[in-house]
Amino acid sequence: MKTILVTGGCGFIGSNFVRLLVAERDWNIVNLDKLTYAGNLANVADVDAGRMRFVRGDICDREFMERLFQEEQPWAVVNFAAESHVDRSILDSTPFLQTNIGGVHALLEAAQKSGVEKFLHISTDETYGDKEGLKPSNEAAALSPSSPYAASKAAADLLCFSYLRTFGLPVIITRSSNNYGPYQFPEKLIPLLIRNALSEMELPVYGDGRQIRDWLHVEDNCRGILAVLENGQIGSIYNIGTGEERTNLDVVEAICIAVAQQAGIPLGKLKERIRFVTDRPGHDRRYAIGTAKVRSETGWRSRTDFATGLRETVRWYLANRDWIASVTSGAYQTYYDSVYKKSWERSA
Ligand code: NAD
Ligand code: DAU
Repeated sequence: MKTILVTGGCGFIGSNFVRLLVAERDWNIVNLDKLTYAGNLANVADVDAGRMRFVRGDICDREFMERLFQEEQPWAVVNFAAESHVDRSILDSTPFLQTNIGGVHALLEAAQKSGVEKFLHISTDETYGDKEGLKPSNEAAALSPSSPYAASKAAADLLCFSYLRTFGLPVIITRSSNNYGPYQFPEKLIPLLIRNALSEMELPVYGDGRQIRDWLHVEDNCRGILAVLENGQIGSIYNIGTGEERTNLDVVEAICIAVAQQAGIPLGKLKERIRFVTDRPGHDRRYAIGTAKVRSETGWRSRTDFATGLRETVRWYLANRDWIASVTSGAYQTYYDSVYKKSWERSA
């Protein structure tokens, strides 16, 4: 049986991807994760231990990664492991450069030494930068990242393709839009607002709230990633998104409605808690990507409409309050205070 190495498989998208693989492919899965604040074994607690081997480790540790490749001989690696939150990269960019660039470098070296059929690197539409007033980016668009997070992801993409050109490593990249769904850490807009709405807390909106994002259900992204892994061309980039644009204010309103309906909180009471707070420095106004390539080359389509996906997401968070409590214990409050109470006070 073939073995696939999934890095960052205890995070939000990675754990949903592992679940998809268990359901739809009979491959052995090795899930390598450092278990940072964002990685949680509870995210894969329902995965049959016979189908997934969990290994705790750091993608930056080259010798460790080389040993793992030698032991497991994976046919493919899908790299989700990253520092993923823009706001944290503004407070302290160091771990972003370490993991998102240094870690990818170590992984490329280990994969190159061992030999794999596919090296699928998970990137982001943020590498294209702010698209306010501009046409959506296709895969050939220039990179113009705004935040330290986005810059670290853009750097990794360039590094990946240098390993294809120079050493023949079979690299493919996906760049998706904003994901939402179960197991997303409550630092990102949708889960943070659901948590705050359920906890009688304020609902913080950065700046004027008119920034635009394209929200993609995580299960749709995971099916897209699998389609690209199996049918994408080596050396190609694939954008994955819905093409639908929403302002943050529209999303906040939709969250209030879904929480009001499901938690029995009066809608007016929730809306009273919306607060316009200090904007994120360097905040991109709009992301927009063209997705014709992934649709024509792999047949992938986004299946989940936003209203349904959001309703189900709110239902999941309501049913998993213990999970929310466990992942927001400890250092979470320090982070929360830096952004929302101390207006972006930097620790470094
Ligand atoms: P996440 O923060 O939820 O999970 C990241 C995972 O990587 C965690 O399990 C963490 O423990 C692990 N990790 C971090 N550093 C590591 C290291 N040095 N070694 C091993 N494991 C490490 O992130 P996510 O939202 O699931 O994002 C996954 C990938 O998708 C990232 O590369 C991100 O840039 C990209 N992406 C995310 C979105 C989104 O909306 N969430 C959209 C586009 C692209
Ligand atoms: O576009 C893909 C990217 O989407 C991924 O590469 C990143 O890993 C992921 O974090 C996400 O980045 P964003 O910065 O767009 O997502 P976030 O959920 O942090 O914010 C979404 C929008 O909501 C953004 O305009 C900022 C705003 N926002 C966010 C938070 C946390 C608020 O107004 N209030 C908040 O409290």
